[in-house]
Amino acid sequence: HDAQLIDGFGRRIDYVRLSVTDRCDFRCVYCMAEDMTFLPRARVLTLEEMALVGRAFSELGVRRIRLTGGEPLVRRDILELVQSLGRLEGLDELTMTTNGSQLRRFAGPLRDAGLNRLNISLDSLDPVRFASLTRRDRLAQVLEGIDAAIAAGFERIKLNAVILNGRNDDEILPLVEYARSKAIDISFIEEMPLGAISEHDRSATFCSSDEVLARINERHALAPSTETTGGPSRYYRMADSAIRIGLISPHSHNFCASCNRVRVTAEGRLLLCLGNENSVDLRALLRRHPGDLTRLKSAIVEAIGRKPKHHWFDDPDQPQVLRFMNMTGG
Ligand code: GTP
Ligand code: 5AD
Ligand code: SF4
Repeated sequence: HDAQLIDGFGRRIDYVRLSVTDRCDFRCVYCMAEDMTFLPRARVLTLEEMALVGRAFSELGVRRIRLTGGEPLVRRDILELVQSLGRLEGLDELTMTTNGSQLRRFAGPLRDAGLNRLNISLDSLDPVRFASLTRRDRLAQVLEGIDAAIAAGFERIKLNAVILNGRNDDEILPLVEYARSKAIDISFIEEMPLGAISEHDRSATFCSSDEVLARINERHALAPSTETTGGPSRYYRMADSAIRIGLISPHSHNFCASCNRVRVTAEGRLLLCLGNENSVDLRALLRRHPGDLTRLKSAIVEAIGRKPKHHWFDDPDQPQVLRFMNMTGG
């Protein structure tokens, strides 16, 4: 397949993030409200519909698919989906972002089903803190899950930590030490204003990537690295460890100009940019014309032409994005 998706700003789209469910067994404070209402199942794409969406993108030149949620491992048929997407010709990589709570059980089967890489969220190493950030007391399971993932032999495992001032900014160094001890990479993420979360004031807890860097530099001299995984992370290395430290800085170092990706929500909305509401309803098309790959591909090509230039997070004249992160999968 040599088709290509190029948007109106000349950006080549070769990466898709598929949210396979909006449900999650955690309620992270930066992501969700405590009392979330989840989608009725009929509104979520079926396994067949998701597989067809993956196939359409791969025939249009997409090389990498990342499965996200919600929590992808709470979806019952997730292993079948991984198997079916893993069989797509033309895909270089099938990856997943998970909260790790079920990895003890799923790490081996996911690896066997063809998943290449895993990103696992970990915001704290202290059980009480962990429970206050995720609203669930599951640190021990997540740590066991990380060990299971390491044992399963994934090509790469990366930890993700969202840092909130006053909540876990004192854990930046402990998290780095933990990643070093496990020989896995770690990325620190600036919180994004997705969804109206009343309990916490995002401007009060915002911790910039520069602050994170400064904290780590107090202990370990970091050298910028030129490597990339094709995502927004900027990587750094330490002299005495092989791990990479990534910074994802949607606010302080905007990366929209080199954006290579789109997202599909659990409901089958093709979301052209994380930080605004431009989208196309692929589910409507899939249900009007079941199995129609040609129509699906044309709808995708047409939509990519309308991908916006950048996100609206820092633009006071634009409306707030009301969609929660769990609809989108980051
Ligand atoms: P790889 O580069 O594929 O390893 O993954 P990643 O780090 O992009 O993916 P991951 O799912 O681990 O996401 C980490 C964080 O980056 C999440 O909080 C995402 O929301 C954020 N992120 C990923 N892509 C984008 C993007 O295009 N725009 C913005 N603003 N944030 C993104
Ligand atoms: N801002 C930044 N990152 C977020 N995540 C969830 N919600 C937000 C937010 N509002 C992160 C999770 C996970 C990844 C998929 O997105 O911690 O690592
Ligand atoms: Fe669940 Fe991930 Fe959102 Fe946390 S950040 S509530 S683990 S979807």
